[in-house]
Amino acid sequence: MRHRKNTVVIAGATAATLLLAACGGSDEGGESAGGGEGQSMRLALNQTEEHPSYIALDSFGSYLEENTGGWDIDVFPNETLGAQAEALQLVSDGSVDMAIVSGTQLENLNEDFVVFNLPRVFDDVDHQMSVIHDPEITGDLYSSLEESNNITVLGGFTQGARSVYSSAPIETPADLAGQKLRVQESELHIAMAEALGGAGTPMAYGELYTGLQSGVVDAAENNEVSYFTQRHYEVAPYWSYTNHLVGLDYMIINTDLLESMSEEDRAAFDEGWTAAHEEHTQLWAEATQEAIDGATAGGATFSEVDDAAFAEPLEALAAEFITTESQQALFDAARAAAR
Ligand code: GCU
Repeated sequence: MRHRKNTVVIAGATAATLLLAACGGSDEGGESAGGGEGQSMRLALNQTEEHPSYIALDSFGSYLEENTGGWDIDVFPNETLGAQAEALQLVSDGSVDMAIVSGTQLENLNEDFVVFNLPRVFDDVDHQMSVIHDPEITGDLYSSLEESNNITVLGGFTQGARSVYSSAPIETPADLAGQKLRVQESELHIAMAEALGGAGTPMAYGELYTGLQSGVVDAAENNEVSYFTQRHYEVAPYWSYTNHLVGLDYMIINTDLLESMSEEDRAAFDEGWTAAHEEHTQLWAEATQEAIDGATAGGATFSEVDDAAFAEPLEALAAEFITTESQQALFDAARAAAR
């Protein structure tokens, strides 16, 4: 992989600020193929270098390096530039150029994003990818943060199906009663934790291993890839297939920076991004199986749940959280694209 120099692990705002200062301004770079000034863009990621998102983003950087005069991507993994809430702010003010942030983060800027964070809105990864990369459905949504936050959404990577994990198997919502279930920082997902039977406790991703280990939370929910690459199976060895949600990560970029690209470079950028999210989708199934095998070898147990017991409370969340016409229109468009 190309960008090993960024593997140094530092955490927190102060460290991120120091690192940004040490990296210099974002105006270094060469003359691009299209005649504009290319530069190496800093991208904040909260995953490890083994995660499909890192691998696909690294390929995206290589593509830009080869197909533009001066653009490239420097991926900072492991929350090195801060947790997602902070990365979002840094992209908005331009101190970081790009980030991968979960849909739950954008829900806090524009309530329309809530729709794609709902349980059961996407049937599977292919359905999700066809919806979120259809400009007819997402065009207005993805440009909606440009004026207010100087952020453009380019599309996304799947988070796959998310399920619950804890220190004991879960079969029905009653099994999670009294358990603090870590969720992402989202009102919807706090309500989703209740639908699953637990008490929703929002927490940043990077704090979760310690949170589970110390008992600040009892359970969490994620995909198998995160469960394995974050080593959560070591501290919550029972995985229960609630499959409550096909989660979504967005690729965001500072709008001023995106608009500074020459037409030619922008075209190469769009092509490279399409190839990157397609590569990510391809890697996902294999990475999921490797994660299941790896976690099992590390002592995890995977079990099925009573699906019927979870269905009704999860499906009820759409009626509660879709409150505007634009949200309803997005929901209907997503459902109409289901096979
Ligand atoms: C997944 C997702 C991340 C998200 C994380 C979480 O790993 O890809 O973007 O931050 O879940 O639960 O916080």
